[in-house]
Amino acid sequence: TPPHLLRNFCIIAHIDHGKSTLADRMLGVTGIVEDRQMRAQYLDRMDIERERGITIKSQAVRMPWASATKEPARPEQGGVRPEGSPGGLRTYVLNMIDTPGHVDFTYEVSRSLAACEGAVLLVDAAQGIEAQTLANLYLAMENDLAIIPVLNKIDLPSAQPEKYAEEIAGLIGCDTADVLRVSGKTGEGVPALLDRIVEVVPPPVGDADAPARAMIFDSVYDTYRGVITYVRVIDGSLSPREKIAMMSTKATHELLEIGVSSPEPVPAPGLGVGEVGYLITGVKDVRQSKVGDTVTGAHRMASTALGGYKDPRPMVFSGLYPLDGSDYPILRDALDRLKLNDAALVYEPETSAALGFGFRVGFLGMLHLEIVRERLEREFNLDLISTLPNVEYQVRLDDGSTAEVTNPSEFPTGRVASITEPVVRGTILAPSEFIGTIMELCQSRRGTLRGMDYLSPERVEMRYTLPLAEIVFDFFDALKSRTRGYASFDYEPDGEQEADLVKVDILLQGDTVDAFSSIVHRDKAYAYGVQMATKLKELIPRQQFEVPVQAAIGARVIARETIRAIRKDVLAKCYGGDISRKRKLLEKQKEGKKRMKMVGSVEVPQEAFIAALSQD
Ligand code: GTP
Repeated sequence: TPPHLLRNFCIIAHIDHGKSTLADRMLGVTGIVEDRQMRAQYLDRMDIERERGITIKSQAVRMPWASATKEPARPEQGGVRPEGSPGGLRTYVLNMIDTPGHVDFTYEVSRSLAACEGAVLLVDAAQGIEAQTLANLYLAMENDLAIIPVLNKIDLPSAQPEKYAEEIAGLIGCDTADVLRVSGKTGEGVPALLDRIVEVVPPPVGDADAPARAMIFDSVYDTYRGVITYVRVIDGSLSPREKIAMMSTKATHELLEIGVSSPEPVPAPGLGVGEVGYLITGVKDVRQSKVGDTVTGAHRMASTALGGYKDPRPMVFSGLYPLDGSDYPILRDALDRLKLNDAALVYEPETSAALGFGFRVGFLGMLHLEIVRERLEREFNLDLISTLPNVEYQVRLDDGSTAEVTNPSEFPTGRVASITEPVVRGTILAPSEFIGTIMELCQSRRGTLRGMDYLSPERVEMRYTLPLAEIVFDFFDALKSRTRGYASFDYEPDGEQEADLVKVDILLQGDTVDAFSSIVHRDKAYAYGVQMATKLKELIPRQQFEVPVQAAIGARVIARETIRAIRKDVLAKCYGGDISRKRKLLEKQKEGKKRMKMVGSVEVPQEAFIAALSQD
């Protein structure tokens, strides 16, 4: 397809604002998927995605669309409108590039946006714009995409299109009349939206004669076909059987198949300037085909790669341990399998006195962690314990040595000169009545207010710098509960800062329980120590002797609880009566013994560790 008939666009939307429904409807309206075949949420592939209603991986779909709309002026031809058949229909090719919807995948979002010339800004007409949408809108604007504002779900009785059209118009500086109104559910307004895309989104521009350069915006592992790489061609062209090279590694592969998704994969004779499609080379690991990398021809290599490539960097770490120690090899194989499809997943073996053999696993964020954990449990039938998630710290000691700490129990010994922690730039959108409570929350999380803007008299955007460690686990829940669910939050990494952090150890009878060591701000060390000591006191059964539970910073004890010794044996509880009850109790005790872990001379039931590590 010649570039002037191509339109590459994506849809930016907050979770649940109806992106998948609208995308499905577009497939129906353009006729590439017949209604009766239309599976609910055609584009969301993985089970987990469907169940949780979130889009994790992006994908592209090619749709024909006959439109009488005039094409926009083409800058490379001096702004002259191309000749069209006057009054007649022309068939365009629309490539819809799906973007992941969650903060953990911001980098993938940025690459999907970089593959497009336009973005549909989709906003629920009953909800208005949310933090997520705003963050992605800013990304799209930075990428100079044409923005098409659209209010969705106008069929809802609670829709307030007038109100939210004004909000959007104010935000992107357009006229309220330019805000389209659609319903992905009924299909109303969808053909007009497709026409608008043709009209407003610029056709791709590239050098057809230059050496090939294509940007990878997604890469997925398929059991039968190996890695399927989704690319957008910028310059030149790619054809089947050609040898290609990845510009970040210079690795070469033969193109076994090249094609387009419409939405099922269809082999194509090649992809030219501006086209979007998939490549199959037979590689078995997504790490060999990384999002953001540039594909070029092995025989005629481009001299410079496309900008914007970044290696995925894990931000959050947690120890994952099988509940049953004999499952360790299964866990290892499972991680090896998941890795094929997840370039951001990193892990290495680790052992814990309390939890046994497991892995320290790095994730992009908390959602990524949850997804991986859920897949391990579901697809591989594993029962897992995970330690409290932590971020990566850079520790510098007085002797000048430095260490990257991703596991608090491996904190270096020696006098600490400084510790730095990762920080994020957070955006919160909320009704203005909650400003006070949000400020309080962010302050308690060591946040610094960076700016505040009113989107309308009732809605405010607040920008904060926050330590990543303070938001990794319950920040979002705390924010939601304090704002009755009305606030939305989004963040992106924003470098590092030095902070007054300390490692708090939890000791049983003088022995450190490695799984509970944590790196926290000095002001919060005491609270953490008391909380863990109290929890453990409640969870660990009495022993034959008194067991002190202590929290300590180095050698200094900051909190202490005591588990008192048992005075009589367990049978004493039965007052000599019912013999079957005694037997039951003994049986139970025996069962319990199997799951006991020894910390020094203290017997701790595994359940106590699990309960202490759970966040509720
Ligand atoms: P993520 O994949 O989580 O980002 O969600 P999404 O934005 O793709 O939303 P999805 O299409 O799954 O829709 C979310 C909910 O809104 C579903 O319950 C849909 O049935 C409903 N919905 C979507 N579009 C419309 C619409 O136009 N009208 C009405 N009434 N409901 C809609």
